Amino acid sequence: MRIGCVKEIKNNEFRVGLTPDNVRAYVAAGHEVYVEKGAGAGSGFGDDEYIRAGATLLDGAAEVWRISEMMVKVKEPLEAEYPLFHEGLILYTYLHLAADKAQTDALLAGKVKGVAYETLQEADRSLPLLIPMSQIAGRLSIQEGAKYLEKRFGGEGVLLAGVPGTPKANVVILGGGTVGANACKIAVGMGANVTILDVNLKRLEELDNLYGGRIQTLVSNDSNVERAVKDADLVIGSVLIPGATTPKLFKAKYLPEMKPGAVFVDVAIDQGGCGETSHMTTHDDPVYVKDGVVHYCVGNMPGAVPRTSTIALTNATLRYGLQIAKGGLEAACRESAALRSAVNTYDGKLTCRNVAIAHGYEYTDLESLI
Ligand SMILES: NC(=O)c1ccc[n+]([C@@H]2O[C@H](COP(=O)([O-])OP(=O)(O)OC[C@H]3O[C@@H](n4cnc5c(N)ncnc54)[C@H](O)[C@@H]3O)[C@@H](O)[C@H]2O)c1
Repeated sequence: MRIGCVKEIKNNEFRVGLTPDNVRAYVAAGHEVYVEKGAGAGSGFGDDEYIRAGATLLDGAAEVWRISEMMVKVKEPLEAEYPLFHEGLILYTYLHLAADKAQTDALLAGKVKGVAYETLQEADRSLPLLIPMSQIAGRLSIQEGAKYLEKRFGGEGVLLAGVPGTPKANVVILGGGTVGANACKIAVGMGANVTILDVNLKRLEELDNLYGGRIQTLVSNDSNVERAVKDADLVIGSVLIPGATTPKLFKAKYLPEMKPGAVFVDVAIDQGGCGETSHMTTHDDPVYVKDGVVHYCVGNMPGAVPRTSTIALTNATLRYGLQIAKGGLEAACRESAALRSAVNTYDGKLTCRNVAIAHGYEYTDLESLI
């Protein structure tokens, strides 16, 4: 199969769909790989590395789109890229179609086979192409929180670990899923006092066993959240209820009771956030202060560390990409339910139920088409 990879054109997006190591894997499996010149620069991968891995480098994105049977990207295509679609193209990337009618219409009109990272679900209900980004956001949340606790960034001026003879910082984590557990790991590693709250008792048991008494676990309810955040130096918002609005656990009335200069990192902001006072911010202007509490609410946190993010994402996407390339999308989907769950558009039809519902379009079962 002819595989393509272009430079991402979304504002501030530095990740890339294929690393040179990925190219090597596709070439070893007998495929041809076409990469736009400069595509990997934002993640620190030079053109020479792609050439050594066996890719053919092309000037400009248009030629890569034209020649490719499968395009491997990171972000959804933007309007400028719609005219480059061609019938039967496999587009393997994050699509987020439920929130984007224009793109949905463009993929349907272009008869593109849209394979979305975010809906690919394994039999155990895990979402393997979302997990690496949650791991990164969780670990980064403590790094960013530690930075904004510094005085010159508006924070209260405390060091997470303290030093002998001073108090350690209190880190409170709301939600102990992938983001929360990764935040916990780094906060513990940095020597903070960590409290983690979740409604899932099984999850709390796992975390308690893992850290052997080094952390405080609490069931999540209004009283426990209120008590915990009043003493907190750093609060991480990492709650998710799949398919529902994120509950606003971190209430506006708590802020005046908190330490001035405490920091709230609302990682869940991409799903609306779990703070009543949260609104989305960007890497260019990541924080604002409300009632003395510094709020960090960046919607695409992994974008801050594109090299790590690219390697982590492509570690997860490569396996499925190779499966698709091997015998085509149809054969791969007949074998793999996980891949079927990722196909959102196929031959002008919507094959993802949630996207169809979101736009009031007709849903077609992929199995009737392949
Ligand atoms: N901002 C970013 O860049 C970024 C990056 C990755 C993920 N995220 C977001 O982070 C959030 C968390 O993602 P995840 O992968 O950890 O999800 P997850 O499903 O692994 O974990 C969510 C956890 O929240 C818990 N929860 C549900 N209701 C709760 C409540 N009332 N109180 C406490 N805990 C509760 C669940 O039991 C679960 O353990 C999501 O909204 C995700 O979209 C944001």
